[in-house]
Amino acid sequence: MAVDQQVVIVTGAGGGMGQAILKHLLEQGKIVVGLDLSVASLADRESDVLQLHDVNVLHEDKVNEVFQNIYDKYGRIDGLVNAIGIAQAATPIEDVSINEWNRLMDVNVKSLFITTKAAVPYMKARKKGAIVTIASISAVRPRPGLQAYIASKGAAESFSRGLAIELAPHQIRVNTIHPGPADTQMLSQFAAPNADVEQTKQEVFVQSVPLGRLVAPADIAGAVCYLLSDAASMVTGTTLHVDGGRGL
Ligand SMILES: NC(=O)c1ccc[n+]([C@@H]2O[C@H](COP(=O)([O-])OP(=O)(O)OC[C@H]3O[C@@H](n4cnc5c(N)ncnc54)[C@H](O)[C@@H]3O)[C@@H](O)[C@H]2O)c1
Repeated sequence: MAVDQQVVIVTGAGGGMGQAILKHLLEQGKIVVGLDLSVASLADRESDVLQLHDVNVLHEDKVNEVFQNIYDKYGRIDGLVNAIGIAQAATPIEDVSINEWNRLMDVNVKSLFITTKAAVPYMKARKKGAIVTIASISAVRPRPGLQAYIASKGAAESFSRGLAIELAPHQIRVNTIHPGPADTQMLSQFAAPNADVEQTKQEVFVQSVPLGRLVAPADIAGAVCYLLSDAASMVTGTTLHVDGGRGL
């Protein structure tokens, strides 16, 4: 028997955006399951409606096991939010190692394949579901030195669009969000190795946003809640720019 509340899984739950997404979803009365490499910093928030798991989402067997347990316990998986990700320090291509390229592709792209593949059978079983992936405005409005990160975010968007057409007959909607530069710890990791991080934040990132400020995690959480909701019931295969106009 399925519980009455909707059940939403969030990866990258311990991150800047992930934590805001958990908060907004809980305020909307959902049951939320958060996955991250370490959820220790969130442990005191665990409750009847918030389950937390230390999971490396690149470990397919572990992800499958956690998703199966969630479905067994609640009888439903309504939403999946992929908010996991890693940054690339701005680096000329000739200095980027193949290991760094592979690491970005694994965490930012392969992880999406693993979590989505794990969630879809449960959504198909109930003929309803919504998947939201956090990509990046840099996929369409690039900055120099971020070529691997940008490629990974372009792949994330294409993957979502491919799934949107594949899963539409099952009433599963798949959408992407492109955040602009956002006020989380990740932002400083995009600076070049010897750059002054605070200066880069103010002079490069804030300056690049027409609306004049960094994106707040709550801005992303609001967009996630919309895309998961019935208000977006005819929205699939789209990319919502939450970037203060950075993409213009
Ligand atoms: N911060 C920005 O400026 C910005 C801009 C555009 C897009 N984004 C994207 O938004 C998303 C969220 O970023 P954020 O700013 O919250 O970053 P963040 O670094 O605060 O959070 C990312 C989280 O992902 C987790 N994670 C990384 N690898 C993992 C793995 N293998 N298994 C499980 N968890 C893992 C990290 O532990 C971290 O908690 C990312 O996809 C990022 O690329 C961020």
